[in-house]
Amino acid sequence: MRAIGIEHFGETPALKEVPVPEPGGEVRVAIEAASTNPLDLAIASGALAALGEYRFPLTLGMDGAGTVTAVGGGVTEFGVGDRVFGQFWSRPLRSGTFAEVAVVQAAPAFGALARIPDGLPSDAAAALPTAGMTALGAIDAMRVPEGGTLVILGATGGVGTFAVQAAAARGIRVIATASAEVAGEVRELGATGIIERGTEPIDLALRRLAPDGVDAILDAVGDRSLTSSVAGAVQDGGALLLVAFGVDKKLLADERIRAADYRLDRKPERLAELTRLATAGTIRPVIGAMLSLEEAPRALTGGVEPAGMRGKVILQVR
Ligand SMILES: NC(=O)c1ccc[n+]([C@@H]2O[C@H](COP(=O)([O-])OP(=O)(O)OC[C@H]3O[C@@H](n4cnc5c(N)ncnc54)[C@H](OP(=O)(O)O)[C@@H]3O)[C@@H](O)[C@H]2O)c1
Repeated sequence: MRAIGIEHFGETPALKEVPVPEPGGEVRVAIEAASTNPLDLAIASGALAALGEYRFPLTLGMDGAGTVTAVGGGVTEFGVGDRVFGQFWSRPLRSGTFAEVAVVQAAPAFGALARIPDGLPSDAAAALPTAGMTALGAIDAMRVPEGGTLVILGATGGVGTFAVQAAAARGIRVIATASAEVAGEVRELGATGIIERGTEPIDLALRRLAPDGVDAILDAVGDRSLTSSVAGAVQDGGALLLVAFGVDKKLLADERIRAADYRLDRKPERLAELTRLATAGTIRPVIGAMLSLEEAPRALTGGVEPAGMRGKVILQVR
């Protein structure tokens, strides 16, 4: 079968012909659609070697959706013919979603797997897991009250587009960073204030839009100088949460605010909540590009420019 993988950490991901994986005590899924995340390249580089367990050759791809074609011994949660989606992060990880077929633990050690709700197409389902779960978890962790103000840096990306919608649905006022070209689209997601990238320094624009400060900032960009420049806008006791990791030690030590790196947790619970929100139409995935499986390496290395908001890049596998 066709798969995008690596033989060792550090290798450039490439299209390969590999054997169809057999499910041990796992679920085998005919993948219909997958989506890319910065996490995929981080895994391929070896940066996350200590986090998890890997087998080579390794097929990449965390997020995917498809139909169960076989289940291994002991699997009771799913049966042949079920439509499933999730973050396919098994332990060990060998068989990701950038392939015609993937095998995944029914309860993935580091991920989550669930049935696709009726009516949700597989490309939309594949867009949801990692970025959607992260957005929901980060919003919970920041504890912004209804009516409070949240700034989202990187609002047009995978995590950001879900975070804008989920926060707005909770009655939180959202100020989002976006390029001028997509500002209108970000407003449609629920942002009421836009800071246009490149037009005015973000910290100055923030002081203008929220002179009394904000309850929280969600940083999905990870540019240290940007993070430091906006930290002063967080009100006393407010949150500065980095999903992009690398919070500065000085900020961590700042007792005035709650600065922290966020690592996605309670994934099955969050995938279930995401399913409910998507079914209710409260959130919808923003799909910036639809590509074939063969184009995954280009997407992973930033070679795909979205038509509008970046959102999620979908790989249509079949
Ligand atoms: N903590 C966790 O458990 C967890 C889980 C998932 C993801 N993450 C991390 O969270 C980060 C975001 O993930 P993602 O999937 O949302 O990535 P993404 O889709 O690539 O989005 C990145 C966003 O950052 C914006 N951006 C880039 N450079 C910028 C700058 N200099 N100033 C302002 N905005 C800038 C992009 O805007 P344009 O579209 O205009 O370029 C885009 O909105 C990544 O670092 C990822 O590894 C962490």
